[in-house]
Amino acid sequence: ASITYVEFNGAQHVINVADGDNVMRGALDNGIEGIIGECGGGLACATCHCYVDDAWADRLPAPGQTELDMLECASAERKATSRLSCQIVIDPALDGLVVHLPETQY
Ligand code: FES
Repeated sequence: ASITYVEFNGAQHVINVADGDNVMRGALDNGIEGIIGECGGGLACATCHCYVDDAWADRLPAPGQTELDMLECASAERKATSRLSCQIVIDPALDGLVVHLPETQY
């Protein structure tokens, strides 16, 4: 699926991420700065924090409780659209998804 990553400085990267992969992995594999993914997707770091674009906010499966708890640890401001990008698994329905990256992950 085509995923658009918008860096904090406004730079946009449109990346084709394979189904079954996640949004964090797609960023790391394509050298996008702004997502760290320190724990490798284990819901243990919150350095994969992103903001789902408003247009997509209601179209993703809801976050689980562990993700919500870990979002408390995110460095940047937490918003209603905050997600941990390692928990957003790509499927064809997410083609065109836009995520915004926070100013910092630490
Ligand atoms: Fe660590 Fe997502 S990569 S919580």
